[in-house]
This record gives sequence, C-alpha cells and structure tokens, in this order.
Amino acid sequence: MGRFDDRGAIVTGGALGIGGGCARRIAADGGNVLIVDVNEEAGANTVKEIRSNGGKAEFIAGDVSQQSTAQEMVETAVSSFGRLDLLIQNAYAGADNAGSAVEVEPENWNSGMGLLVGALYLGAKYSVPAMEESGTDPHYEQPPWTGAGRRHGNPPARNVGRIVNMSSVHGLQQAPRSLIYNAGKAAVIGLTKQMAIDFGPLGITVNAIAPGHIVTEKGNANWDEVGNDEGFHLFELHYPVRRTGEPEDIAEAVGFLCSNEASFITGHVLAVDGGLTIQLQENLVMDSKDYILANPDLRTHFDFDRGASRF
Ligand SMILES: NC(=O)c1ccc[n+]([C@@H]2O[C@H](COP(=O)([O-])OP(=O)(O)OC[C@H]3O[C@@H](n4cnc5c(N)ncnc54)[C@H](O)[C@@H]3O)[C@@H](O)[C@H]2O)c1
Repeated sequence: MGRFDDRGAIVTGGALGIGGGCARRIAADGGNVLIVDVNEEAGANTVKEIRSNGGKAEFIAGDVSQQSTAQEMVETAVSSFGRLDLLIQNAYAGADNAGSAVEVEPENWNSGMGLLVGALYLGAKYSVPAMEESGTDPHYEQPPWTGAGRRHGNPPARNVGRIVNMSSVHGLQQAPRSLIYNAGKAAVIGLTKQMAIDFGPLGITVNAIAPGHIVTEKGNANWDEVGNDEGFHLFELHYPVRRTGEPEDIAEAVGFLCSNEASFITGHVLAVDGGLTIQLQENLVMDSKDYILANPDLRTHFDFDRGASRF
C-alpha cells in the first residue's frame, strides 16, 4: 500500500522542474495528482509519464495567481478524486524581475507578489474548506493509546490535510537586487507560520521548504546555453555536500512532510540545500577566491550581468 493511496493532491507548477518531481513522487506513492500549470504541453507530458508508470494524474491549465484558477483547481480535484488532502504550492514563472526597490516597477512588484505570495493565500483559501470536508486520511487509524503519552479530552484531528509552500534559500538570506523574489520568498515563510497556527486545530499542517540551487530541465538548459562548466562547478563547491540539488531531492522532503508520520511538524521551514545556508559567509568568500584565482577564465554573475549581483 502506498502512503498516499486514495488521497487527492494538487501540485501547482507541476508540469516541470521541482513541481514535476513532487507530482511524480506523490503519484508513485499512490496519490491522485492534479497538476495546475500555465504550460499545457509540459503538463500533458508529465501526466502522460505518470500514467504510463501506473500513477493517477490530471491536468488543468491556469495561472494560480488568479482567484478563478484557485477555485477551479480545488473544484476539479474534489470532483475528480472525491477528496482533497495535499496542496503543494510551488508555481513560479522566474520572470525577469531583478532589481532594487528603486529599480523595480510597481506593475512588476504587484504581479511578482501576486504569484509568489498571493497565489498561496488563494490556494489555501479554497483548499482548506475542501480538506476539512474530505476529513481524515481514509486509511488512517488512530493508534491505540500505549500509556506512553498523555492526553486530556478527545483525540485532536490528525492527518486531515497537508500544505507545503515552496520558499527558497532566498527567503532565508538575501541576494543583491532581488527585491521581488527575496521579499516574496521571505513572505512565504511568514504566511506558512500564520497558516500553521490557523489550520493546526483542523488537523492540517502547513510547512515550507527552502531549496538551494536545484537543476531542473530549465536550469539545465540555461547552464548549457552559457556554457560555463567552471561556473557551475563553483556553485557545486559552495555546497558542503559538493553538489547542487535535483527536483527529486525536494520531492522527497515534500513526500515526508505530506506523510502521516509528519503530523507533529507544522510551521517549519525546512532548508533542503545541501548545507548551503549554514556556512559562515566569510570563509565561503575566501574559499571562492582561491577557486577563482585558480580558474582565471571563470565567468561569474558579474560577467553575465544577469541581474543578480552589482556593487
Ligand atoms: N530551481 C531552483 O534552484 C529553486 C531554488 C529555490 C526555490 N525554487 C522554487 O521552487 C519552485 C519551482 O521552481 P523550478 O525551478 O522548478 O521552476 P520551473 O520554472 O522549472 O517550473 C515552474 C513551473 O511553474 C509553472 N508556472 C509558472 N508560472 C505559473 C503560474 N502563474 N501559474 C501556474 N503555473 C505556473 C511553469 O510553467 C513551470 O512548469 C518555485 O517556487 C521556485 O521559486 C527553485
């Protein structure tokens, strides 16, 4: 029996990248997965792949920053699967929204925050009542009381629902000229804690994941395009585990947070970053200096002017 058998799940931005990995993970564990994404072709392909591996998946096209999409995705999940248990809020467009507060235009701020933060509010707004309506995981049986714990009154609701919001290491630490992304991902952490407090009594846990650099289909193509293997290797060396991540690394963490075994974990921000954010910055800078001096042809953000760094 799979740990998500007969459970209904929504994965936003599940057509590609991290969301694709999450959709595959949940389906492989028996869950019914609704992928919501603006990329119809990639969404259809991921659904096809999941089904060809024996999993259950559906797709709807939509922009999750729109209220109508949030409503439609919840209605579709409930009508297709009979219940909603898991909500993975992951979609992001990676639009060109670099800049400081001086540089960012109000319309980019509004659309960026609408997707990074507003979509997560909308997703929860419509999903939580549907999770409550669906009730506890149909396969869950409250374990008999062993006497090892202590409880006053009736057992509280457990395993009614799980929400996992995708933040980033950029929500924990800031990079230059990335106001929208960094402020948005930090807001995801605040929103996650607020939802954890509000929905805990309903048996719904809400957690965030802060991924480090995850090489997705798109990320791989970007690295190919710039042809900067030494630069990529510098990225890898920044990680104590000496590698960057893969969508499956995040999907495994999502799977755990969605499991019944994680019912006492809520409001947590789980960094899944190979140790990137635990390091002392000044040592990292000095180690990078050695690598850069040993590789004089190395190109960095400064050379590419990709908007990430500027003194
Ligand atoms: N890849 C990384 O290194 C990394 C690191 C930290 C955090 N993250 C976060 O993880 C999440 C996924 O990132 P990824 O790298 O897999 O991205 P990706 O670009 O590979 O995939 C994102 C998916 O979201 C979809 N999408 C974009 N805008 C949408 C919208 N408005 N409505 C519905 N779907 C939409 C895209 O079509 C795509 O399928 C994002 O929230 C991102 O900020 C990624």
